[in-house]
Amino acid sequence: MDYIYLDQRIVNDRTMDSRIKKPAQESLRSSVAGYGTYQSLYGLGYTYDAPQENWMNLGCPEISLQQMQDLLQVVDSALKEIGRRKFSGGELYVNALQKVLGNRERRGPESIFIVFEIPGKDAIKGRVFFLNGDGYVEHSETITMMESSAYAINLINGDIERSNWCDTCESIAHYQGKFHPAVKKVLARPINNFVSKPISGEPRGAIVAFNYPDEATTYDADVLKSLSVVIGSVVTLSTEMHETESAFIYTIEALARTCEAADEETGNHIIRVNRYSEILAKAIGMEGQFVRTIASSAQMHDVGKVHIPSFIIRKEGPLTSEEMAIMKQHPQFGAKIIGDAPRLSMAREIASSHHENWDGSGYPGALKGEDIPISGRIVKVADIYDALRSKRSYKPALSHAQVLEIFLSGDNRVYPEKHFDPEILRAFFKIEHKMAGIYANLG
Ligand SMILES: [Fe+2]
Repeated sequence: MDYIYLDQRIVNDRTMDSRIKKPAQESLRSSVAGYGTYQSLYGLGYTYDAPQENWMNLGCPEISLQQMQDLLQVVDSALKEIGRRKFSGGELYVNALQKVLGNRERRGPESIFIVFEIPGKDAIKGRVFFLNGDGYVEHSETITMMESSAYAINLINGDIERSNWCDTCESIAHYQGKFHPAVKKVLARPINNFVSKPISGEPRGAIVAFNYPDEATTYDADVLKSLSVVIGSVVTLSTEMHETESAFIYTIEALARTCEAADEETGNHIIRVNRYSEILAKAIGMEGQFVRTIASSAQMHDVGKVHIPSFIIRKEGPLTSEEMAIMKQHPQFGAKIIGDAPRLSMAREIASSHHENWDGSGYPGALKGEDIPISGRIVKVADIYDALRSKRSYKPALSHAQVLEIFLSGDNRVYPEKHFDPEILRAFFKIEHKMAGIYANLG
């Protein structure tokens, strides 16, 4: 087969014959190292016969440049999301792939297979991504293969590879033998070409793009290289963030448990209060980040009790007014222990406001209505539900039905209409069965 090398891109004679009129061909043949992009052919006054979609099919630096700029935009957006702690690796995939997968208006591969190594195992796993008829990114089930298998060799450890079936095989059918059966199964048609590139970072991975229109070009390889850098860098960041977040949550849980040790036997009280607060926040329509934060911050509500003498905390029967005055200091002690760190701002406001009442009769600030932070109003409902359900030195455990009755009509300690945010109280009655489920599982 006769090839003309055009700005490092390979175009075969037959393709060229059908697309570019004679003068252009002659010019190309005599100027092997020339600036042979199709844009410059236009600049020389040559004409091009093919319709727009065929033109796109061959790829060009302008298209790859645009795609790389789109990918940079993905990184920029991801960095902003990281700053707001709203980032997730899954969303990154969708954003980046949306900009690289081919469709009617844009040149690109039909499918992209992204795999990562499984730590501690000689295996890699990943999924095939593609655009559905509506232009949304969809993916296959997870595909796992041994790292030492013929299909995976050099995928992670190799370098960028670009392959068109006609360069290496006698037929497209013969070419299919290179690919894992599970990958072929989810592709819409046989594989004609691919570009693969390892993904650096932790965990290591690889990206393989299948079925570019006509052939996989060096420009396609450049775009894929950019995609692999984008995915590698942000997946590494995502992993780091996840580990840091886990360590952070472990630390605040340890702090909450340490302070709880001074309290009476409360079992999984702090864990249950996290869960109740999470579902109450969801039920009143709070956004995802708030729900996630309250789910780990609610447990800090009573850390201030570490400064309250244990004879007061463990006292059976009612507290004297003097003892009660000391007990009522635990919200301020809690806020002081938690400190001013921005990451703990919700934990701090919960600690200081979970004993405020909707009608302003609570402590320590006698705050009223919406002046009480929403996080504190939520945790108040969660904390009282759990306190009523649990046995304490001054009271027996109550059943879920008994607590429902108190939340409906009140008793000599709890006045629902005066103490609770009415919206949260309504949400409580919608999800009370889930509250009961959490107590049953973690009681
Ligand atoms: Fe408290």
